[in-house]
Amino acid sequence: MDLSPIGGSFTCCGVPANQRGVVVGHMRGVRGGRRRRWRQRQVNGCCCSWAMDEGSRMWMVTCTAPVNIAVIKYWGKRDEELILPINSSLSVTLHQDQLKSTTTVAASRDFKEDRIWLNGKEENINHPRLQTCLREIRRLARKRRTSGDGNSNTLSLHHKVHICSVNNFPTAAGLASSAAGYACLVYALAKLHGLEGELSEIARQGSGSACRSMYGGFVQWMMGVKEDGSDSIAQQIEPETHWSELRVLILVVSAEQKPIGSTAGMQTSVKTSPLLKYRTEIVPERMKEMIDAIKRQDFETFGQLTMKDSNQFHATCLDTFPPIIYLNDISKRIINLVHRYNSHFGETRVAYTFDAGPNAVIYIREQHVDEFVEVVKHYFPPEENGEQFLKGLPVNSVSVSEHLKSSIQMDSIKSGIQYIINTQVGPGPQLIQDANLHLLGENGFPKQ
Ligand code: DP6
Repeated sequence: MDLSPIGGSFTCCGVPANQRGVVVGHMRGVRGGRRRRWRQRQVNGCCCSWAMDEGSRMWMVTCTAPVNIAVIKYWGKRDEELILPINSSLSVTLHQDQLKSTTTVAASRDFKEDRIWLNGKEENINHPRLQTCLREIRRLARKRRTSGDGNSNTLSLHHKVHICSVNNFPTAAGLASSAAGYACLVYALAKLHGLEGELSEIARQGSGSACRSMYGGFVQWMMGVKEDGSDSIAQQIEPETHWSELRVLILVVSAEQKPIGSTAGMQTSVKTSPLLKYRTEIVPERMKEMIDAIKRQDFETFGQLTMKDSNQFHATCLDTFPPIIYLNDISKRIINLVHRYNSHFGETRVAYTFDAGPNAVIYIREQHVDEFVEVVKHYFPPEENGEQFLKGLPVNSVSVSEHLKSSIQMDSIKSGIQYIINTQVGPGPQLIQDANLHLLGENGFPKQ
């Protein structure tokens, strides 16, 4: 296989080398104990930068991917291997300015084995779901090559890869870290191989909810009916620009690891919960209503369905035997607060949803953010000198009327909420053009 990076047949991201390519610098690197000469080339409009030394070549890509929060929940699989769900689901992609995974993948014939580092620590690359993603991307690249698809590049499929990934939010705290992580991995590997097009089917096999992080805006994961899972894919319903006033507040209740992971939890629910079977009958109609509400920007319907679906998911968890309890006392107080706030105004201004953890995700329109955040601060006063309470998009300080406080009537709990992230709907995975942002150094190992 021709790997010649200069001239010749080298193509990357579908762009032949002779149509781009600027040498941006020479670097000296130390590898294997001896000083060797590296040349780094940043190619115009292309994802790959690579270092070359005496015939060894490295291909490197860095991408980011978003978190998504479901408003119609996925819970339960009909096929554990292929990760095929028992119902369709729908989510909102959050903006990467606040929450994202970043992944660098590098390939080189010098690499002895595939390796992965997650949040600064080397992890076992033999994890079956990681292996599936690697295998499926390589399989797709091979298929596109055989069929003569000009989009794939000439990177050898025998090269081993080094993968380095970080999240800028607490891992496994019910903030869909595996969704952003697998979406980012699949997107970055695809870019490395010059693959475009539908990739959610592969991301789904890393973590079910990851398929929805492959798109921005409002995204449905259609459960599909085929046994091979080829129709169980994500689809964008509306882009991130569709409902510009929508905001998302993440109330971080606990940044600790969740007691039971989603994968194990849903397995037990499938085996033991009669309510989960009933849910499969309810969800198709709910999906239609939700899609319609999003298209019409009808917050009343969107908010009510979101809360009902979250409650039904947690009811299913409680119906599981032994029961799974993700919500804690603070989560339940937040639920109460939202209902009292809404009933004061006689309309749905705020909607909560909870995944497999106690943190609340609040959907709200921009015009109500300042007041609602003030209400949250009033009932969950932050720790003095604690960490910054408000993160993300700016929030203005306003006063809360006595009338509103007397309708809510709740005791306040100091430091029940650690911090709030204010964010909005955002785009899908992004390719990072700046080679300085690679997480792997020119030796192919994580930068310190
Ligand atoms: C509660 O996608 O993490 O967040 O497919 O086993 O990796 P696996 O599960 P995962 O489950 C997410 C469940 C949820 C609801 C949702 O995001 O739809």
